[in-house]
Amino acid sequence: MNQTTYQIQSVNNEKEMADALSVRKAVFIVEQEVPADLEIDAHDEANSGTIHFVVYKEEQPVGASRLRTYAPGVGKIERVAVLQSERGTGLGRQIMMAMEETAQDQGYETLKLNAQTHAQRFYEKLGYEAYGDIFDDAGIEHIAMVKNLREK
Ligand code: COA
Repeated sequence: MNQTTYQIQSVNNEKEMADALSVRKAVFIVEQEVPADLEIDAHDEANSGTIHFVVYKEEQPVGASRLRTYAPGVGKIERVAVLQSERGTGLGRQIMMAMEETAQDQGYETLKLNAQTHAQRFYEKLGYEAYGDIFDDAGIEHIAMVKNLREK
């Protein structure tokens, strides 16, 4: 049983946003070689309405994600990232649960995400169901997934 205490929070200021982006950069741009101009997009702009999350371990950013409106009543989960050193500890699941709590507070009834296919099982364990065909995004195979929050 891992005893690490992580602090998962929504981003409230520029420093926290920079910390969230530092994790996304390490995971998506450096590790997965996603082009920077695809990784950072309009949904990261201030006032875009996106809710960003950052995770701290002893004041160091180690996780990140974002949640935005996709359609009325539908939220979209994106950029779920845990630094390599913290994977397999349950942190990814904790981030997802924190986002689902926020999504319910926001009034979303459904959550959608596009999973990298290697992570499909991770999301299935959290109750997400795959639909449609596998597609390519930024050179990485993805599959669309959905979860009805009213059935939680
Ligand atoms: N394949 C299969 N199962 C996986 C998995 C994977 N890639 N990643 C996690 N799981 C399982 C775990 O074994 C665990 O199962 P259990 O409850 O039976 O023990 C459960 O999912 C929760 O795992 P957890 O430890 O919370 O996951 P994590 O902290 O390692 O985070 C990711 C998972 C996907 C967020 C992390 O691997 C990551 O950041 N990867 C790189 C970025 C990425 O690909 N993000 C997804 C974009 S769609």
